[in-house]
Amino acid sequence: MLSKKIEAALNGQVEVEAMSSQAYLAMASWAENQGLSGTAAFLYKHSDEERMHMLKLVKFINERGGKAIIPALKLPSTNFKSITGIFESLLFHETKVTQEINKVVDTCLKEKDYTTHNFMQWYVSEQIEEEALARTLIDKLNLIGNDKGGLYLFDRDLEGLSAAPAERGQ
Ligand code: FEO
Repeated sequence: MLSKKIEAALNGQVEVEAMSSQAYLAMASWAENQGLSGTAAFLYKHSDEERMHMLKLVKFINERGGKAIIPALKLPSTNFKSITGIFESLLFHETKVTQEINKVVDTCLKEKDYTTHNFMQWYVSEQIEEEALARTLIDKLNLIGNDKGGLYLFDRDLEGLSAAPAERGQ
């Protein structure tokens, strides 16, 4: 059984993951309209993954005797200027998500809820990978600069990355 504090912390994280999914969906749509089909495919997939992260929390809360709350979401940012700007804002967003996950983990320790603490470790590892990937992509974009040929190859690489099946969050 979840304590009220843990239930509230997990429901807060449901909202964070849902907001991430919406944010990346808006980025994907922008990239698609710019003709960056590989980048769009990557971001659509990333948005799907965030939805799975949310779903995993919803199911955990309900299985542990809590009540998952499906939140209303604010309009995501759509004012994008460049592909580098997109990935910088993605990384910024992910570092904030990591802080939120750390807060949930901290609450688990304070409440001595080791089951939820164990469940949250999956999110801790996932954040390390997501932040690292975003940093790698930003480094590549900084190397490419204004080189159109480089951007073409970058976009094609992301198409390849998106071809792998989506992480099921298990
Ligand atoms: Fe599920 Fe990228 O945080």
